[in-house]
Amino acid sequence: MGFFKKIWNWIDDRSGISETIMPLAKHLVPPASKWSYVFGSATLFCFILQVATGIGLSLLYQPSSQNAYHSLEYITNQAFLGNVLRGIHYFGASGMILFVGIHMIRVYITASYKFPREMNWISGVILLFLTIAMGFTGQLLRWDANGVWSSVVAAEQLSRVPIIGTYIADVLLGGQAIGEHTLNRFFSYHVFIIPAMMFILVGFHLFLVFRNGISEPPKPGRLVDPKTYRKWYQHLLAKKGVPFWPNAAWRDALFGAVVVICIVGLAIFFGAPKLTQPPDPSIITTTPSPDWYMIPIFALFALMPPKIESYIIVIGPLVTIFALLALPFLSNSGERSPLRRPWAVFGTFLVLIFVFSLLYIGLKAPWSPKFDTKPIYKQIKTNNPDMEKGMVLFYKKGCQYCHQIKGHGGMKGPDLTLIGRTWDKNQLKVQIINGNKNMPAYGSILTKDELNQLVNYLAALR
Ligand code: HEC
Repeated sequence: MGFFKKIWNWIDDRSGISETIMPLAKHLVPPASKWSYVFGSATLFCFILQVATGIGLSLLYQPSSQNAYHSLEYITNQAFLGNVLRGIHYFGASGMILFVGIHMIRVYITASYKFPREMNWISGVILLFLTIAMGFTGQLLRWDANGVWSSVVAAEQLSRVPIIGTYIADVLLGGQAIGEHTLNRFFSYHVFIIPAMMFILVGFHLFLVFRNGISEPPKPGRLVDPKTYRKWYQHLLAKKGVPFWPNAAWRDALFGAVVVICIVGLAIFFGAPKLTQPPDPSIITTTPSPDWYMIPIFALFALMPPKIESYIIVIGPLVTIFALLALPFLSNSGERSPLRRPWAVFGTFLVLIFVFSLLYIGLKAPWSPKFDTKPIYKQIKTNNPDMEKGMVLFYKKGCQYCHQIKGHGGMKGPDLTLIGRTWDKNQLKVQIINGNKNMPAYGSILTKDELNQLVNYLAALR
C-alpha cells in the first residue's frame, strides 16, 4: 500500500489533481437543487458516450464512397460488439439531442439565462446548433440512401439561398453534387472540426457553471438585480449553501447512470438502425426517411409554400439564431419564476407543439422518394443517343425517384410519360431550374448541356 500511496502522492503533487478537483467537488451550491437540474449533466454523459463510441467506430470505418457502406456492414455484422457499438452511438445521439432540448427548455422556463449567466446561455445555444450539425453530418456517414438523400435535400435548400447559396453548398458538400468529396468533408466535420469546437465550448460552458454558480431554484417575487445579484448569491451560499458533491451531484450521477444504462440497453436490444440500401439505388426495397430528430426540419421545408421558401430558408435560421442569442440581452434581470412569466411558458408550449406536429407529419407523410426504381434507360431501349443521354440523366439526377415515365419511377411528383404534349421546352427548363413546391431546384446542379439533354428528352415524350 505504502508504495502505491507514494506513487499517487508523486502524481498528485506534480499535477495538482486533488488541488483542482477537491474545490470543484466541494464548492458550495444553492440548497434544494431539483431533479429538473439533471438534464445538462445527462447531455454531458451522452456526449462522453458519443466520444468513446465514436472513437471505437472510427477505428473500423472507412470514409470513402467505395468502402464506407461495406465497412459499416462489416462493423454491424462481423466486428466484435460492432452492432452494439453502432447502436450506442445512435441512441446516444438521440439521447443527446433529447436532453439538450429538455435542458434548454428548463433553463428558459426558470430564466436561468438571466444575469450573470448570459454567457452560459450563449455558449449553450452554439452547442445546440453544433449538436444538430453532428446529427446531420453523422447521418451522411452511414452512406446509405437515407443519409445521402437527406443531404441532397439539404444541399438543394442551401443552394437556393440568394447570391451566396451555390457557394455555400459548394463549400459544404465539396462540389456541386453529393459525391466522394462530400463524404470526405462530412467525415472531417463530424470527426475533427465540430467535435473540436464542442470540446472547447463544453469546457467553457462547464467553467461558466462553476464561475457563475448553479442558478438557485426561482421563487415568485424574488427578482434578479444585476447590481446586487452576485453579492446576494454569495450571501445565500454562505448561509445555506451545500457542497456540490455529494449533496447536489448525486442526482446528476444517478440520472446519468440510468441514462447510460438505458442507451446501452436499447443498443443491445434493438441494435443499430438498419442500413438502408447503399446510395446506388438499383438494388433496394425500403422507404427511406431521415433520422427522427431531422424529420421536423425536413417536414418544415416540405410544407413551406414554395413562393416564400427561398426567403424563409435564409431568414428563418438567421432570425432563430439571432433571437436565441439576443434573449439574455433583451431580459437579463427581473422575475425568474415561470409562475410570473406565463408568456414564456406559453411560448415554449407553442414551440413544442409546432415541433411535435412537424415530427408527426413527417413520420406519416409519404414524402420520401422511391429509391428502388430501376434505371429507366435499362428498361426502355432507344436508338437515339440524345434520348439515351436524357434518360440516363433522368435517372442519375434523381428525377426518377419522384417521377414516373411509362410506369418506371416514383409517385411523389406527376407522371411525365406524356409531358411533351402539354409542356414546351421553356416551361420544362423553368420547372427544372427553379423546382417547385415539392420538387428541388436543379439550377445549380445541372450543367447547361445536361439541362438541354434532359429537356430534349422530356419534350419528346408524347
Ligand atoms: C423530390 C421529388 C422530385 C424530384 C427529385 C424531381 N421532381 Fe419534378 N416534380 C416533383 C413534384 C412534387 C412536382 C409537382 C408539384 C410541384 O410542381 O411542386 C414536380 C413537377 C415536375 C414537372 C412539371 C410536371 C407537371 O405536370 O406539373 C416537371 C416537368 C418535372 N417535375 C421534371 C423533373 C425533372 C426533369 C427532374 C430531375 C432533374 C425532377 N422533376 C426531379 C417532385 C420531384
